[in-house]
Amino acid sequence: MHDVSTVNVGILGCGNVGGGLIGLISEQHDVVLARTGADLRVARVAVRSISKSRDVDVDSNLLTVDAAAVVNDPGIDVVVETIGGIEPARELILAALAAGKPVVTANKELLANHGAELYAAAAAAGVDLLFEAAVAGAIPLMRPLRESLIGEPITRVMGIVNGTTNYILTQMTEAGASYHDALAEAQSLGYAERDPTADVEGFDAGAKAAIIASVAFGVSVVAGDVYHEGISAITEADIAFASRLGYAVKLLAIAELVDKTEVAVRVHPAMVPLTHPLASVRDSFNAVFVEGGAVGDLMFYGRGAGGRPSASAVFGDLIDAATNIQRGGASLGELPRASIRSIDDIESAFYLSLDVADQAGVLATVAAVFGAHGVSIRSMEQEGLGGDARLIFITHPAREANVQRTLADLAQLDVVARVGSTLRVIGE
Ligand code: HSE
Repeated sequence: MHDVSTVNVGILGCGNVGGGLIGLISEQHDVVLARTGADLRVARVAVRSISKSRDVDVDSNLLTVDAAAVVNDPGIDVVVETIGGIEPARELILAALAAGKPVVTANKELLANHGAELYAAAAAAGVDLLFEAAVAGAIPLMRPLRESLIGEPITRVMGIVNGTTNYILTQMTEAGASYHDALAEAQSLGYAERDPTADVEGFDAGAKAAIIASVAFGVSVVAGDVYHEGISAITEADIAFASRLGYAVKLLAIAELVDKTEVAVRVHPAMVPLTHPLASVRDSFNAVFVEGGAVGDLMFYGRGAGGRPSASAVFGDLIDAATNIQRGGASLGELPRASIRSIDDIESAFYLSLDVADQAGVLATVAAVFGAHGVSIRSMEQEGLGGDARLIFITHPAREANVQRTLADLAQLDVVARVGSTLRVIGE
């Protein structure tokens, strides 16, 4: 038998995640009480509008528009922040931590930009700051990295952490859809926003990559440290070529420890061999592949977004925070600033396509540019003839800066009509 303790929960925001959490607390209350002794009570809920109709059944007496009053209420034991954005979320979380209250948040934007400040504040207060839902939604990843793998020499974490782009790429691969048609479908299903920039240009995945790198390597990495490219330039021809060669095209977030001291963090589309577990992650699912020195390879798979899946991750954190109140919580602590390896110094094999004139000497001219920058060609194929001629290259691993110089020089050649997509080949 557990000692029973009442835990009064203050929830900031009652949208998909906050509302989903209230539903789960009500459905699972007795199970959680029996298993942990925590008698969870939704004590106050801060909302933007009291009169708005909501899917979840919540006592209107608990609602307030004053989020600071929830945080400062001495009767509140744990604060759950689901309002998103930087301010006022940052100030509210800092106030809760300063008052000695554990905090659970799903706020990836805030953590990717101000994580170090918040982790330090939680450490100073000796309370939990938990954020499982901020990265890859429902998938347990932050806790395994923070706890189970705390002693593991992790070398690389790479994943599909944006469901919208994975849905678009899956439609392009399996239904032969164009990028624009697949995006329109993602928008009609509610995956992509009307302005899809954050998802399709890699900003969302970049924020998640910064958080993953900070937790995996114990150093502070911010969103601005992450190199990112999106998927909007990928064509059906790129996907078809990759499929023919035995690769899937995926938007990958990659965090690596290089030479044991530097952290390289990037988001870009990549060709992943069909034999790699990440290649089989379809539709809007997320998955994260962790490579450790002792543990070997691990993969975490599941729903990366959505109100109820994300609420599930927040609920798990809430139970953890509630049961830790007696023995004192933990946070990542004071993270030293990461030393960031520039993308210029990262090596990858590249796929690249060039629309060219179909005449004698063109291949030699093009190949000379690769050679001049020390980029070695692994394979080359011509597709189309005459005005439709296209050369497709796969290189051996080459330094990013050298490949970018090669691309810039190729674009200047008279015989090159257009430099098409470039995809890095990852996971071989
Ligand atoms: N828009 C994100 C996605 C979910 O498509 O995965 C929120 O991070």
